Amino acid sequence: MPFLSTAHRQVIEQITQSEQTPFFVYDLDGLLAHLKPLTEQSVVKLWYAVKANPLSKVIQTLDKAGFDFDVASSGELNQVLKQGVCSSRVLNTGPAKSKPQIQHFLSQGVRTFVAESHNQVHWLNQVASEQNVQLRVLLRVQLRWPDGEKNPLGGDSLTPFGLGTQQWQSLDINAFKALNFVGLHIFQWGNMLSTQKLTELWSQMVPPLLALADNLGFRLQVLDLGGGLGIPYQEGGIKLVWTQLLDSLASIKAASGVEELWMELGRFAVGEYGHYANPVVEQKQNYGEHQLIVAGGINHILRPAVTCQAFPCELLRTSTAAKRDYLIHGPLCTALDHLGRHELPQDINENDWLVFSQCGAYGFTESMPYFLCHELPAEYVIEHGEIQCIRPAVAANEYLR
Ligand SMILES: Cc1ncc(COP(=O)(O)O)c(C=O)c1O
Repeated sequence: MPFLSTAHRQVIEQITQSEQTPFFVYDLDGLLAHLKPLTEQSVVKLWYAVKANPLSKVIQTLDKAGFDFDVASSGELNQVLKQGVCSSRVLNTGPAKSKPQIQHFLSQGVRTFVAESHNQVHWLNQVASEQNVQLRVLLRVQLRWPDGEKNPLGGDSLTPFGLGTQQWQSLDINAFKALNFVGLHIFQWGNMLSTQKLTELWSQMVPPLLALADNLGFRLQVLDLGGGLGIPYQEGGIKLVWTQLLDSLASIKAASGVEELWMELGRFAVGEYGHYANPVVEQKQNYGEHQLIVAGGINHILRPAVTCQAFPCELLRTSTAAKRDYLIHGPLCTALDHLGRHELPQDINENDWLVFSQCGAYGFTESMPYFLCHELPAEYVIEHGEIQCIRPAVAANEYLR
């Protein structure tokens, strides 16, 4: 399957008739068809990690597919509730849960939390007691592996996500009358593309987690494995197969003896259903390289600067010209604004658009949109075969004060 289908190319061509600045487009019909089989099983309960893409229409599509919602801030919570989702279907993860944020979540009816520190446990208990409610709490655990690896979620590095098993040992769970400790949460690797590697990592997590629950004196009813399921960013890249993942998850569930296995999916849920269309500003030659300067860069799609991995890119127009290598640069005055090296037709010019694919997750809201005061990109969706603009481009004079 090509990253950019003929149907999507036609939709983007149509939008470029009226758009002059970069925009995202999300295929909600394709997204719904992809999501439905994910929830049609009884092995793992799925939450949508809203941080991957908090657009209203995307949340609504996840809701239709039967996902519940993992939020990490009051902003994400409010956006989910605004779509008509009941707060009983919300889980709160994230390392920065202040007391005011906890108060806000409880006042909105959220009752399920992943605690990432001793303070969070104390504050959850205190606010829940004040509001006379009971909460379900999972403790987030951070493990270390001997053959350590790193990635943006930390891998084997020290991160603020949860605590080591040693650090949790001193928690006296009986001291928190408003909290029911039901499980443990662990998530340290992102964008994994091997079921075997995932299975190995998950399997190694089970014994220390069971030991921790045992030491703390509660029965491990829920094991939350977070996210981490990857998507390919290169042509011909490996894709995870959901049925194989389910087999692996079923074995982890059996080995841990839990009643419920949970995951919060971001990238694997929505990543493949978004494109980012970007006008070419100019082509130039420099020190033997061909450079393309484009209108939008890491102000709209930051990920290449964080991971050094480009989003796949194609020319929107079909061209029979021979291809050459280009370095693609965004408009910001930092060398970090680099969207990768891509093979594209030689006849690209200032009237062209490039299309970046696999941009449905960790696109616009992960970026740095205000630097240099360019437009915020418009966001379009395709739903029931119709194109709809959900947010028009926003010019700097609308957001600068
Ligand atoms: C706690 C938590 N769960 C789930 C996710 C989603 O991860 P992914 O996009 O790899 O599915 C994240 C992403 O950072 C996260 O922080």
